[in-house]
Amino acid sequence: MLDFITRHQRSLSERYFFFKLRDLRKTSSTRKINQMSKHLPTTLSVIKIVKENYRTVTLTFANQLGIIRPGQFVMLWLPSVNEKPVSVAYADEKTIELTVSAVGPWSKAIQKIKKGDKLGLRGPFGNTFKLSGKHIILVGGGFGIAPLHFFATLTQQHKIKTDCIIGARNKKELLYVNKLKKLTNLYITTDDGSVGDKSYTTDKLAELLNQNHYSQIYSCGPEIMMRKVAELAKQAKTPSQLSLERYMKCGFGICGSCCLDDSGSRVCTDGTVYSGEKVLKESEFGRSHRDSSGRKV
Ligand SMILES: Cc1cc2nc3c(=O)[nH]c(=O)nc-3n(C[C@H](O)[C@H](O)[C@H](O)COP(=O)(O)OP(=O)(O)OC[C@H]3O[C@@H](n4cnc5c(N)ncnc54)[C@H](O)[C@@H]3O)c2cc1C
Ligand code: FES
Repeated sequence: MLDFITRHQRSLSERYFFFKLRDLRKTSSTRKINQMSKHLPTTLSVIKIVKENYRTVTLTFANQLGIIRPGQFVMLWLPSVNEKPVSVAYADEKTIELTVSAVGPWSKAIQKIKKGDKLGLRGPFGNTFKLSGKHIILVGGGFGIAPLHFFATLTQQHKIKTDCIIGARNKKELLYVNKLKKLTNLYITTDDGSVGDKSYTTDKLAELLNQNHYSQIYSCGPEIMMRKVAELAKQAKTPSQLSLERYMKCGFGICGSCCLDDSGSRVCTDGTVYSGEKVLKESEFGRSHRDSSGRKV
């Protein structure tokens, strides 16, 4: 396995060196080393595995990627299967946690990873959620709850009053309930009412926006949900920050697969976090995206 990783690391390295060389020549030597290393996969062993729900695991690695901030993602490479973007669910100077839900071939293979297995991590990539104000609200759905958990650890450190709404189809799909209860004032919604309110996260958000004055709304999850969050934020004249997903191949701005129609903004480098005001101007936001071959779906 190690031979396999080393061989593939070499061919990936050659590609990334080629594309980044021109940019790197313009930067200082310390920045060169940092930029160079984040574009190469680092082989890391899984040191802990937590089963979050029936189709989701959190993998912990020793942090050899340096400083990682809430909202950022890494490219997670499972040799001989695929490499995919994953938001960082928590990181400090010692560890990195990634939460992956089984959806298709790659994410199902991730569920079978054992302690001690080695994976390749590139990154961190993308921009970050920005702290703002004294009373904020987070709105998360699906595995979008994971990066909001990381952000909530930061808002707790800064003693920012944080309300949080998380939603799922039903109780068994929910993630991070106990952890978020400790960090935030937590509200839960489910489509079938099996736990929390039988409603959508955005119904709860509308209710809370009538009762509170928030300085900022943060959201990550299904885009249809985030579009509604952005519209509610606009109506309430409250700024919002949303973390978007697009099909990603390189993760650092060279392949163009993650571009938003209209502006051409690259979600992997200009995002993933955008203001609600900006993304509401993108015609595809909450309506369509592009698949692996660039076809609109
Ligand atoms: C910025 C970002 C952060 C993400 N964070 C997480 C996370 O924290 N946890 C998690 O479980 N998943 C996360 N994902 C999704 C993850 O990258 C995979 O898309 C997902 O696991 C499905 O991959 P698959 O091969 O198993 O399934 P597939 O059947 O191949 O894909 C299922 C669907 O996932 C999407 N998808 C597949 N490949 C990609 C890709 N390379 N880039 C973007 N979307 C893709 C497509 O919409 C596709 O229809 C994130 C995606 C992005 C873009
Ligand atoms: S994933 Fe390649 S440019 Fe964004």
